[in-house]
Amino acid sequence: MLIAATTLLAAAGTLAACGSQGISVSKSSPYYRGAVLFRDHCSGCHTLSTVGAEGSATSIKDRVRTNGPNFNFRKENAEQVLYAIRNGGFSGAVMPENLVVGDDAQDIANFLAAYSGRQAQNVPSVNITLSTK
Ligand code: HEC
Repeated sequence: MLIAATTLLAAAGTLAACGSQGISVSKSSPYYRGAVLFRDHCSGCHTLSTVGAEGSATSIKDRVRTNGPNFNFRKENAEQVLYAIRNGGFSGAVMPENLVVGDDAQDIANFLAAYSGRQAQNVPSVNITLSTK
């Protein structure tokens, strides 16, 4: 019985990696520090499955003002993240400014630039050849 319970717990632990608090970035990765900082400071309002963050709205219906963009889909580069951290998002309206500064901000920016937008769909593009004649 005890063995069965342990096995169950282990299974639950594996599941948690894509649920509430699991960070799926390797501890030896240069992005690990940024991942932990992101989970600690940003996951309340943003979603990113790499760190188990689910702070974004799941539907229009239950959306609240503090729900920030879902980084599973939204791709950011490091400059954009640093800008958002300094200014409180892009609008400066909801997200607090300077939640993290210095190296911490930089590590989060590097991490997010590498891991955001990974579930974004590849929209097929149509190549249009513009005539310059
Ligand atoms: C209190 C909730 C809250 C917290 C905490 C928060 N954000 Fe935000 N964030 C928002 C909201 C709401 C927006 C969308 C409105 C805006 O851009 O001003 C946003 C926007 C952003 C954007 C712009 C995204 C885009 O493409 O429009 C980035 C980047 C960002 N946040 C990164 C972060 C990072 C990094 C942290 C942690 C240091 C963080 N946020 C913490 C609420 C939050």
